[in-house]
Amino acid sequence: MNILLTGGAGYIGSHAAVVLTEAGHQVVILDNFCNSQLSVLERLAKILGKPVPFVEGDTRDTELVRKILKNYKIDAVMHFAGLKAVGQSVQKPIDYFDNNVAGTISLLQAMRANNIKMLVFSSSATVYGAPQYLPLDENHPTQAINPYGRSKLHIEEILSDIEASDSNWHIACLRYFNPVGAHESGIIGENPNDTPNNLMPYIAQVALGRLPYLNVYGNDYDTLDGTGVRDFIHVMDLAEGHLAALSFINQKSGLNIFNLGTGKGSSVLEMVKAFEGVSGKSIPLRVTNRRTGDVAACYARVDKSSTDLSWKATRTIQEMCSSTLNFQKNYKCNNLS
Ligand code: NAD
Ligand code: UFG
Repeated sequence: MNILLTGGAGYIGSHAAVVLTEAGHQVVILDNFCNSQLSVLERLAKILGKPVPFVEGDTRDTELVRKILKNYKIDAVMHFAGLKAVGQSVQKPIDYFDNNVAGTISLLQAMRANNIKMLVFSSSATVYGAPQYLPLDENHPTQAINPYGRSKLHIEEILSDIEASDSNWHIACLRYFNPVGAHESGIIGENPNDTPNNLMPYIAQVALGRLPYLNVYGNDYDTLDGTGVRDFIHVMDLAEGHLAALSFINQKSGLNIFNLGTGKGSSVLEMVKAFEGVSGKSIPLRVTNRRTGDVAACYARVDKSSTDLSWKATRTIQEMCSSTLNFQKNYKCNNLS
């Protein structure tokens, strides 16, 4: 298939570009590079042995998207483009609704104009809000607790109304849990900010001696060791989940919602131990207050994705840690930015 990847130069989209291309699909990337670098395209070409077609532009430019869909004879769209920092979304809600919600509406208009009705959307486990029970299945009530989460929920609601209005749409809404790790080449991965907000890139910076210690946000949760528990999933497993979701919706219409996680929760301290194991470095810790908005534990029930998509995450926590470390080492040493 010819597949448009909006936000395809970003962390998850670039890994999906590798998996889809290696599976024989032709991908085209549309990205405005607001949170990625042009050099990702060279790195993708290095991994794939051929250039990846791309257009620099914005999903909110409906006319541009319409032209791309037509010129590249696109069959399906994977919609990764969006802003994703929870804290920033509280400060700048208009930007989040504009980029995420208006960007999606613009894309949907362009798709409708070209009669393209196959879409895989990047949603998030954040739409479940505070878990009422665990593991979280796809029927768990949704309740977003910040503007980022609300933008994802609004989009899910829009997609639900669209499929109710026209049975020709084939949509997969993928609720990601905590994507971590990097491609085995070590040349694509999560572009680390100066000071990362997320656990895994932060631990890696400490392991590499670039930050002095890890702040553990609370050790008094009702979890096995008191620290937060999350469902960390290797980004390559996640990318393979997209391939599986695409084959599924190729056969099945409607709105199909899937959790993409491993089904297993790991605590902050377990991740620290695993990192120490693969890096051979000890990670100094400081226990601090809980972070506002954090839940104690969040992990997926994955029965639906495993049955319907015939897909399962297989990579281990050690692989998540070693690939994160490998990418972060390369990122600074070889000037990948
Ligand atoms: P990312 O920031 O690395 O990638 C997003 C890409 O989209 C970037 O390359 C950015 O430049 C581009 N982009 C943003 N707005 C755009 C626009 N209007 N037009 C064109 N390009 C635009 O993020 P990611 O981690 O790869 O996440 C991809 C998607 O998955 C996002 O929608 C995100 O909300 C969702 N998601 C991510 C996580 C996570 O932890 N990484 C978890 C759940 C859901
Ligand atoms: N944590 C620390 N110290 C840190 C960073 C994180 O102790 O320096 C803890 C957090 O308190 C939490 C766990 O590590 O218990 C995981 O935190 P992350 O920031 O890595 O991930 P979150 O689960 O908070 O959030 C991520 C994304 C969200 C997304 C959510 C669900 O950042 O955008 O997963 O998909 F919504």
